[in-house]
Amino acid sequence: MLEALAPQPADALLGLIKLYNADPRADKIDLGVGVYRTATGATPVFKAIKAAEARLLETQDSKSYLGPEGDMGFVHALIPYIFGAGFDRSRVEGMQAPGGTGAVRLAIEVARRAGVRRIIMGTPSWPNHAQIVAAAGLELVTFRHVTPEGTADLEALKAVLADAGPGDAVLLHGCCHNPSGVDYTHAQWDEIAPLLASRAVLPLLDLAYQGLGAGMEEDAYGLRAVLAKVPEALVAYSCDKNFGLYRDRVGAFYAVTGDADALTRAMANGATIARASWSMPPDHGAAAVRLVLDDAELTKVWLAELDDMRGRMRQVRDRLAAAQQVGTIPMAPLGIQNGLFSMLPLNGEQILALREKHGIYMAGTGRINIAGLTSGNIEQFIESLRAVAV
Ligand code: LMR
Repeated sequence: MLEALAPQPADALLGLIKLYNADPRADKIDLGVGVYRTATGATPVFKAIKAAEARLLETQDSKSYLGPEGDMGFVHALIPYIFGAGFDRSRVEGMQAPGGTGAVRLAIEVARRAGVRRIIMGTPSWPNHAQIVAAAGLELVTFRHVTPEGTADLEALKAVLADAGPGDAVLLHGCCHNPSGVDYTHAQWDEIAPLLASRAVLPLLDLAYQGLGAGMEEDAYGLRAVLAKVPEALVAYSCDKNFGLYRDRVGAFYAVTGDADALTRAMANGATIARASWSMPPDHGAAAVRLVLDDAELTKVWLAELDDMRGRMRQVRDRLAAAQQVGTIPMAPLGIQNGLFSMLPLNGEQILALREKHGIYMAGTGRINIAGLTSGNIEQFIESLRAVAV
């Protein structure tokens, strides 16, 4: 029966990894998939994680099952970082998930079971968002995320919310918008939060890059502003980037509600979905994060590493922004955008020319991974862009 299967295109973003690896050019530049790189182009294991892993190796005396919710010590250790030190703990519960993707999937499936039929989402977005919504069988309603001036389009969100209500969930990126790097300002979040509450929609907050924008606290501003106003929300969290644990798949799903019974049901439904999907999340990365967060010294080391990452990305952004205009591409906006990604207004032909003639790999949307640029290749990148963006 397998011949009846429809062919599927390979995932375009993940496909870039293979294309890049197969390119023999020594001066090729990888601006594709979202992984952090140091000034020498490496993606090392965090020192804090290495230390935690060593401790884990020494002390872990069993690999017996934990259950569909995974490592609850990990899940709870993250709560003050995400929700704030003073957050009412009786309003929130969570469970571990395989990466941010697993967390988004859990959030959307739980929303569906709660009666959500439409997911409202700004575009462009991380391509997997739409794919997960489709896999869950929900309708996707989109609105424009970025204005032509390069700011977050609050008016477009307001317009779509005017027609929204119970049965709708609104998926928002907590920080470091993927792919545009264009975040809502604090003032915009302050307007969004009461609006979501007044429309009685279910906010679904995806926080995959906390600490890579302006700082751990600063990057949680929007999420916390929303949770201060709405009665309930779902949160998808990823440690893949801010702990550098990409392939270990470390994420968490949280539900927030003042209704204790509803909270229990949200977790029970999450656990049922997890059991039928992956049974239990992978333990190792989450256990390492727990050990980091339970140890004040390791926490300090981790936060310092995160500061370094953020500082380096800011330097790259400043250098790109200083170029002002490269061919047809305005560069100044990159200086005020956040996180790993920005989008360059390039067409498909130009993106292909950058890859084939100049060995520069980026997503088909013109998204670049800022961390792929180093002092050793940034001038080459700018000159290649100048040659193509005419
Ligand atoms: C990205 O957008 O590059 C990352 O989130 C990796 C992924 O899973 O797509």
